Amino acid sequence: MTGHLVAVERTALLTAALRAAETAREDRLYEDPYAARLAGEEGMQLLMQIREASHPKSADADTGTDRDLPSTPDYNAIRTRFLDDFLRRAAQDPAMRQIVLAPAGLDSRAHRLDWPSHIRYFEVDRPAVLAHKEERLKDVEPRVDLRTIAVDLTAPDWEQELIAAGYDPEQPSTWLLEGLLYYLTGDDTHRILDRVAALMDPGSRIAADLVNEAALTSPDMRGLLDVFAGWDCPWLFGTDEPEALFAAHGFTVEATQPGEPAADHGRWPDPVPDRSVTGVRRVFFVHGRRS
Ligand SMILES: C[S@@+](CC[C@H](N)C(=O)[O-])C[C@H]1O[C@@H](n2cnc3c(N)ncnc32)[C@H](O)[C@@H]1O
Repeated sequence: MTGHLVAVERTALLTAALRAAETAREDRLYEDPYAARLAGEEGMQLLMQIREASHPKSADADTGTDRDLPSTPDYNAIRTRFLDDFLRRAAQDPAMRQIVLAPAGLDSRAHRLDWPSHIRYFEVDRPAVLAHKEERLKDVEPRVDLRTIAVDLTAPDWEQELIAAGYDPEQPSTWLLEGLLYYLTGDDTHRILDRVAALMDPGSRIAADLVNEAALTSPDMRGLLDVFAGWDCPWLFGTDEPEALFAAHGFTVEATQPGEPAADHGRWPDPVPDRSVTGVRRVFFVHGRRS
C-alpha cells in the first residue's frame, strides 16, 4: 500500500492521467503504456476537474463570454514529446553519463524508452510520489540503471543523497526540471537553480518548463489557476525572461514556446504572439547547457 498523495504531489497523478489520455488517442504524440495504472481513478478525477475548468458549461459570469483557457491536454502532449526528444538526443551523446529528473513525478521514461547501457538515471521527487510509482510499477523492469532519491527539493542537503546514490558532479549530466517551477516561490526557484548548477559539469544539459507572469494573473487563466489553488498547490512563479533567469544561474538556454515550429506537432490550438508583445500568457520550454 502507498500513502495518500497531497497538494503538489497530486499533480503527478494529473500528469499521468494526461499521458493516459494522450496514449488513448489515435493521433498520439507518444505512447506511455504505464500512465493509466500510475494515474489510477484519482488521477482521472483530477483530469476531469481540469477539463471542466477549461470548458465551462455556462458563459463566464463576469464577461458574458466563454473563458479562453489554454488547452492543458495539448500542452502536456507537446511538452512530453518535446522533452522525450530532448532526452533521447542528450542520451545519444557518447559523452553523456547521467540523467536526472527533478522532479520525476509518475513519469515512466525509465520504463518506456530505450537508454544506452552506460547511463545512470536518477529520479528525484517527494517520498510519497516515488513510493506510489514503485508500487504501481513493481512488475515492470526499468530499461536503465535507475536510482531514486526521495526528497523535497527545497530541503537542505538533498545533494548529498543524490551523490550517495551514485551521481558524480564532475561527469556530464542532463537535468530535466519538468512541471516544477510553477509551484515554487521565486526565492526557491533561484535557490534550486543555483543548487542544480553547482551539481553540473560545464557543457551539461538542462531543460525545464515555466510560465510567464501574465499566466499567473491573466483573467483568462483564472479557471485553471483556481483549480490548482483549490488543490493546495497554487502556481507561484513565472517570468517573461526565461533566458535571463537561467543565465543568472550559469546556464545558456533558448526558450521555445509551444506552437512554434519546433514544438507544435499540429496540436497547439492558440496563436503564438511575438515575444515583444507584453501582457499575454505564455509558457516556455527552456533548453540549453551549463555554461
Ligand atoms: C506536475 S508533476 C510533474 C512531474 C514529472 N516531471 C512528470 O512530467 O510527470 C510535479 C511533480 O513535482 C513534484 N514536486 C513539486 N515540488 C517539489 C519539491 N519541492 N520537491 C520535490 N518534488 C516536488 C511533485 O511531487 C510532483 O510529482
